[in-house]
Amino acid sequence: MTTVTCDLSVSLDGFTAGPHPTRERPFGDVVGTGEVLHSWMFDHGSAHADEIAGILRAGAFVMGRGMFSPDRGPWDLGWRGWWGDEPPYRAPVFVLTHHERAPLVMDGGTTFHFVTGGLDEAVARAREAAGERDVSVAGGATVVNACLAAGIIDELRLHVVPAVLGLTGGVRLFDGVGRHTFEAVGARQTPEVTHLVYRRRRAD
Ligand SMILES: NC(=O)c1ccc[n+]([C@@H]2O[C@H](COP(=O)([O-])OP(=O)(O)OC[C@H]3O[C@@H](n4cnc5c(N)ncnc54)[C@H](OP(=O)(O)O)[C@@H]3O)[C@@H](O)[C@H]2O)c1
Repeated sequence: MTTVTCDLSVSLDGFTAGPHPTRERPFGDVVGTGEVLHSWMFDHGSAHADEIAGILRAGAFVMGRGMFSPDRGPWDLGWRGWWGDEPPYRAPVFVLTHHERAPLVMDGGTTFHFVTGGLDEAVARAREAAGERDVSVAGGATVVNACLAAGIIDELRLHVVPAVLGLTGGVRLFDGVGRHTFEAVGARQTPEVTHLVYRRRRAD
């Protein structure tokens, strides 16, 4: 059966991005191009190969438009995401948005499908596309929080970086998700990040 996973890099104070992302600074103010939250992945990748492979193992992905683009409103069709011509997903990616757009086929097996029918439709299409493989909820925090609130995520993998961002804006992980209980099933501590794995038990 398909497991719905979610990997997120998060600061000690619960942020996954800063406010005001731009094309040049995908993670917004303070976080900029993502070094603070993703140095473990970008600069120390070989030390975290298993965790990175775990993210990319999924057979389909769900993400919010904010993870695909900093823009709002009608699409600029010239924008093809932050990952260049060959994104690392190599699978269908279902991008939640209120603005219709034709599928975008990239090199290497990634196709971005833009879903305007809501979260349930995006997850259903991702499950179907993934077959027996996992579905990964890739972010950002708005979509992850919606998935947590709806009890959609079976396995939550937090990559906690030892930094307090001290932001006054931006979306914080777990805001508005209600009460949930998890089983802690994995933890690995390194100097640059602590990997924590939780399985969903039940919503209180
Ligand atoms: N730290 C990490 O691991 C990590 C991971 C992923 C992303 N990020 C960062 O997080 C930031 C984005 O996160 P975010 O929370 O601001 O945004 P997000 O969750 O990526 O996307 C939110 C957007 O998705 C669309 N959306 C969400 N739910 C929808 C629904 N039910 N129906 C239709 N459309 C829906 C809306 O787009 P419309 O504008 O089309 O209405 C909404 O504005 C970026 O800076 C990104 O780089 C960090």
